Amino acid sequence: MLSLLEIPGFLGTKASLLSDISLILSLISLVLFIIAGLEGRRRQFKKHCPTQTIALILIFLAVVLFMAPVYSQQYESANAGLTPFLPNGLITLHAGFGGLTLLYGVYVLLVGYNVFRSKDKKILMRIASILFIIVSISGIVIYSSLYL
Ligand code: HEM
Repeated sequence: MLSLLEIPGFLGTKASLLSDISLILSLISLVLFIIAGLEGRRRQFKKHCPTQTIALILIFLAVVLFMAPVYSQQYESANAGLTPFLPNGLITLHAGFGGLTLLYGVYVLLVGYNVFRSKDKKILMRIASILFIIVSISGIVIYSSLYL
């Protein structure tokens, strides 16, 4: 995996190939989350469910295939010894908050498909959309500050 981290990206920044692929997947997923939110508001549920599902699968792939390996190779050891807020505080916060958001997203998706029951799906979904947008923006800030 270390060698993959050394392959230059294709966006013309200082980022590696892994980071660039991850950024593109995350951006597509963010756009889909926003579209899915609008479809939900317009009560277009036949479109809303698949759009939301694809968005979650894309961000799940970006995290598992790209962000988690970059995190464990480059930041985990730097943060060992209980110094989570120094020097990679935002990245650690992003990884922790992002992991929880992803789990919450899977739960809300299963509520959407009636695997779990909830009295107020709408609120759960609104919270999920806001969390995903916040985590995505924090990821874009991280990418920009590291590689632009
Ligand atoms: C809802 C879940 C998440 C979203 C929406 C999200 C979004 C993003 C975005 C848009 C970026 C910038 C593109 C990139 O450089 O990859 C990013 C970067 C990053 N994310 Fe996440 N992320 C999430 C969860 C996680 C998790 C769980 C981890 C750790 C296991 C993580 C670790 C990282 C790292 C280390 C970077 C910087 C990677 C690099 O150097 O390029 N993220 N994230």
